[in-house]
Amino acid sequence: MIKSWQQKLEMKIKTYLTGQSACHDFYHLDRVRDNAMTIEKEIDCDKEILEAAALLHDIGYKGHEGDDKNHHLYGMEVAKKWLPEVGFPNKKIPEVIEAIRLHDNFAWGHNGEKTDHIVTKIIQDADRIDALGAIGIARITYYHGEVGLPIYSDEELPDEKIVWADHSLLDQIRREPMKKWQYLNFPISKKISKKRSEFVEVFYNELKQELESYHKK
Ligand SMILES: [Fe+2]
Ligand SMILES: [Fe+2]
Repeated sequence: MIKSWQQKLEMKIKTYLTGQSACHDFYHLDRVRDNAMTIEKEIDCDKEILEAAALLHDIGYKGHEGDDKNHHLYGMEVAKKWLPEVGFPNKKIPEVIEAIRLHDNFAWGHNGEKTDHIVTKIIQDADRIDALGAIGIARITYYHGEVGLPIYSDEELPDEKIVWADHSLLDQIRREPMKKWQYLNFPISKKISKKRSEFVEVFYNELKQELESYHKK
Protein backbone atom coordinates (compact mmCIF):
# COMPACT_ATOMS: atom_id res chain seq x y z
CA MET A 1 0.00 0.00 0.00
CA ILE A 2 1.29 3.45 -0.90
CA LYS A 3 1.81 5.59 2.15
CA SER A 4 0.84 9.26 2.30
CA TRP A 5 3.49 11.90 3.05
CA GLN A 6 1.95 12.24 6.51
CA GLN A 7 2.48 8.55 7.28
CA LYS A 8 6.04 8.62 5.97
CA LEU A 9 6.85 11.77 7.92
CA GLU A 10 5.36 10.38 11.14
CA MET A 11 7.47 7.23 10.79
CA LYS A 12 10.63 9.29 10.27
CA ILE A 13 9.86 11.50 13.27
CA LYS A 14 9.05 8.61 15.61
CA THR A 15 12.28 6.83 14.74
CA TYR A 16 14.38 10.00 14.92
CA LEU A 17 12.92 11.10 18.27
CA THR A 18 13.33 7.78 20.04
CA GLY A 19 14.58 8.59 23.52
CA GLN A 20 13.92 12.31 23.11
CA SER A 21 12.95 14.37 26.17
CA ALA A 22 9.22 14.22 26.89
CA CYS A 23 8.99 18.02 26.57
CA HIS A 24 9.56 17.91 22.83
CA ASP A 25 8.91 14.33 21.82
CA PHE A 26 6.61 12.94 19.11
CA TYR A 27 3.61 13.23 21.42
CA HIS A 28 4.16 16.98 21.79
CA LEU A 29 4.28 17.37 18.00
CA ASP A 30 1.17 15.21 17.66
CA ARG A 31 -0.76 17.28 20.21
CA VAL A 32 0.31 20.52 18.54
CA ARG A 33 -0.96 19.12 15.23
CA ASP A 34 -4.27 18.30 16.88
CA ASN A 35 -4.57 21.78 18.41
CA ALA A 36 -3.66 23.34 15.06
CA MET A 37 -6.36 21.38 13.24
CA THR A 38 -8.95 22.51 15.80
CA ILE A 39 -7.96 26.16 15.31
CA GLU A 40 -7.94 25.72 11.53
CA LYS A 41 -11.66 24.93 11.60
CA GLU A 42 -12.21 28.66 12.17
CA ILE A 43 -9.05 30.14 10.65
CA ASP A 44 -8.70 29.08 7.05
CA CYS A 45 -5.28 28.11 5.70
CA ASP A 46 -3.49 25.38 3.74
CA LYS A 47 -3.98 22.23 5.83
CA GLU A 48 -0.99 20.39 4.39
CA ILE A 49 1.39 23.23 5.22
CA LEU A 50 -0.12 23.50 8.68
CA GLU A 51 0.18 19.78 9.41
CA ALA A 52 3.80 19.55 8.22
CA ALA A 53 4.76 22.66 10.20
CA ALA A 54 3.10 21.29 13.35
CA LEU A 55 4.86 17.94 13.03
CA LEU A 56 8.27 19.51 12.44
CA HIS A 57 8.22 22.74 14.45
CA ASP A 58 10.34 21.36 17.34
CA ILE A 59 12.29 18.66 15.50
CA GLY A 60 15.42 20.80 15.88
CA TYR A 61 15.74 20.13 19.61
CA LYS A 62 17.07 16.67 18.87
CA GLY A 63 20.85 16.55 19.02
CA HIS A 64 21.16 20.20 20.02
CA GLU A 65 20.36 20.04 23.71
CA GLY A 66 21.56 23.15 25.49
CA ASP A 67 21.03 25.33 22.43
CA ASP A 68 17.26 25.65 22.80
CA LYS A 69 17.15 29.20 21.45
CA ASN A 70 18.31 28.02 18.02
CA HIS A 71 16.14 24.92 17.72
CA HIS A 72 14.13 26.59 14.95
CA LEU A 73 17.28 26.90 12.80
CA TYR A 74 18.15 23.22 13.18
CA GLY A 75 14.52 22.30 12.55
CA MET A 76 14.50 24.25 9.28
CA GLU A 77 17.41 22.17 8.03
CA VAL A 78 15.69 18.89 8.94
CA ALA A 79 12.48 20.01 7.21
CA LYS A 80 14.35 21.02 4.03
CA LYS A 81 15.84 17.54 3.86
CA TRP A 82 12.88 15.42 4.92
CA LEU A 83 9.91 17.02 3.18
CA PRO A 84 11.09 16.20 -0.38
CA GLU A 85 12.02 12.70 0.81
CA VAL A 86 8.47 11.95 2.00
CA GLY A 87 6.83 13.37 -1.12
CA PHE A 88 5.51 16.60 0.38
CA PRO A 89 4.54 19.07 -2.40
CA ASN A 90 7.69 21.03 -3.29
CA LYS A 91 6.00 24.35 -3.82
CA LYS A 92 4.62 24.30 -0.28
CA ILE A 93 7.95 23.67 1.45
CA PRO A 94 8.98 27.36 1.82
CA GLU A 95 5.87 28.10 3.87
CA VAL A 96 6.55 25.19 6.22
CA ILE A 97 10.11 26.46 6.68
CA GLU A 98 8.80 29.96 7.39
CA ALA A 99 6.45 28.65 10.09
CA ILE A 100 9.27 26.69 11.75
CA ARG A 101 11.52 29.77 11.63
CA LEU A 102 9.00 31.99 13.35
CA HIS A 103 7.08 29.61 15.60
CA ASP A 104 8.72 30.86 18.79
CA ASN A 105 9.00 34.50 17.74
CA PHE A 106 5.84 35.90 19.21
CA ALA A 107 5.96 39.49 20.45
CA TRP A 108 6.98 38.62 24.02
CA GLY A 109 9.21 35.71 23.02
CA HIS A 110 12.86 35.33 22.13
CA ASN A 111 13.27 38.19 19.68
CA GLY A 112 9.83 39.61 19.09
CA GLU A 113 9.71 39.40 15.28
CA LYS A 114 6.06 39.72 14.32
CA THR A 115 4.41 37.92 11.44
CA ASP A 116 1.18 37.99 9.45
CA HIS A 117 1.74 34.45 8.21
CA ILE A 118 -1.45 32.62 9.16
CA VAL A 119 0.08 29.13 9.41
CA THR A 120 2.79 30.46 11.71
CA LYS A 121 0.25 32.19 13.92
CA ILE A 122 -1.81 29.00 14.21
CA ILE A 123 1.32 26.98 15.07
CA GLN A 124 2.26 29.55 17.71
CA ASP A 125 -1.15 29.19 19.35
CA ALA A 126 -1.28 25.40 19.01
CA ASP A 127 2.18 25.18 20.60
CA ARG A 128 1.34 27.51 23.46
CA ILE A 129 -1.84 25.60 24.23
CA ASP A 130 0.36 22.54 24.88
CA ALA A 131 2.11 24.62 27.53
CA LEU A 132 -1.18 25.22 29.35
CA GLY A 133 -3.34 23.04 31.55
CA ALA A 134 -2.21 19.89 33.34
CA ILE A 135 -0.14 18.96 30.30
CA GLY A 136 1.67 22.28 30.42
CA ILE A 137 2.40 21.91 34.14
CA ALA A 138 3.67 18.37 33.57
CA ARG A 139 5.94 19.51 30.73
CA ILE A 140 7.43 22.48 32.54
CA THR A 141 7.96 20.42 35.71
CA TYR A 142 9.64 17.69 33.68
CA TYR A 143 11.88 20.26 32.00
CA HIS A 144 12.91 21.81 35.31
CA GLY A 145 13.78 18.40 36.70
CA GLU A 146 15.76 17.54 33.61
CA VAL A 147 17.95 20.64 33.76
CA GLY A 148 18.28 20.56 37.54
CA LEU A 149 16.38 23.71 38.46
CA PRO A 150 14.64 24.13 41.85
CA ILE A 151 10.92 24.21 42.55
CA TYR A 152 11.36 27.20 44.82
CA SER A 153 14.01 29.85 45.36
CA ASP A 154 14.35 32.41 48.17
CA GLU A 155 15.48 34.93 45.63
CA GLU A 156 12.42 36.03 43.71
CA LEU A 157 13.23 37.83 40.50
CA PRO A 158 11.05 40.36 38.70
CA ASP A 159 9.63 38.95 35.46
CA GLU A 160 11.88 40.98 33.17
CA LYS A 161 14.99 39.51 34.80
CA ILE A 162 13.96 35.91 34.35
CA VAL A 163 15.37 34.31 31.24
CA TRP A 164 13.67 31.18 29.88
CA ALA A 165 14.11 28.36 32.38
CA ASP A 166 16.87 29.88 34.46
CA HIS A 167 14.95 30.08 37.69
CA SER A 168 12.56 28.26 39.99
CA LEU A 169 9.59 26.28 38.76
CA LEU A 170 7.30 28.64 40.66
CA ASP A 171 8.74 31.74 38.94
CA GLN A 172 8.66 30.01 35.60
CA ILE A 173 5.00 29.04 35.88
CA ARG A 174 4.15 32.64 36.74
CA ARG A 175 6.14 33.94 33.82
CA GLU A 176 5.38 31.42 31.12
CA PRO A 177 2.13 29.40 31.19
CA MET A 178 0.21 32.03 33.13
CA LYS A 179 1.01 34.63 30.50
CA LYS A 180 0.71 32.53 27.41
CA TRP A 181 -3.05 32.51 27.25
CA GLN A 182 -3.48 36.28 27.00
CA TYR A 183 -1.04 36.47 24.09
CA LEU A 184 -2.70 33.86 21.90
CA ASN A 185 -3.23 35.13 18.36
CA PHE A 186 -6.82 34.05 17.72
CA PRO A 187 -10.04 34.22 19.79
CA ILE A 188 -10.75 30.55 18.94
CA SER A 189 -7.41 29.61 20.53
CA LYS A 190 -8.37 31.43 23.71
CA LYS A 191 -11.77 29.80 23.70
CA ILE A 192 -10.50 26.24 23.45
CA SER A 193 -7.80 26.76 26.09
CA LYS A 194 -9.61 28.92 28.65
CA LYS A 195 -10.11 26.03 31.06
CA ARG A 196 -6.43 25.12 30.81
CA SER A 197 -5.40 28.68 31.54
CA GLU A 198 -7.64 28.81 34.60
CA PHE A 199 -6.24 25.50 35.83
CA VAL A 200 -2.68 26.84 35.62
CA GLU A 201 -3.67 29.82 37.73
CA VAL A 202 -5.30 27.62 40.37
CA PHE A 203 -2.27 25.33 40.41
CA TYR A 204 0.17 28.25 40.64
CA ASN A 205 -1.66 29.88 43.54
CA GLU A 206 -1.86 26.60 45.45
CA LEU A 207 1.79 25.77 44.85
CA LYS A 208 2.88 29.27 45.88
CA GLN A 209 0.79 29.19 49.04
CA GLU A 210 2.06 25.76 50.07
CA LEU A 211 5.71 26.59 49.36
CA GLU A 212 5.58 29.97 51.09
CA SER A 213 4.01 28.45 54.19
CA TYR A 214 7.35 26.66 54.63
CA HIS A 215 9.96 28.92 53.14
CA LYS A 216 8.79 32.49 53.50
CA LYS A 217 9.33 33.41 57.11
FE1 LIG B 1 9.73 25.48 19.67
FE1 LIG C 1 6.58 23.12 20.58
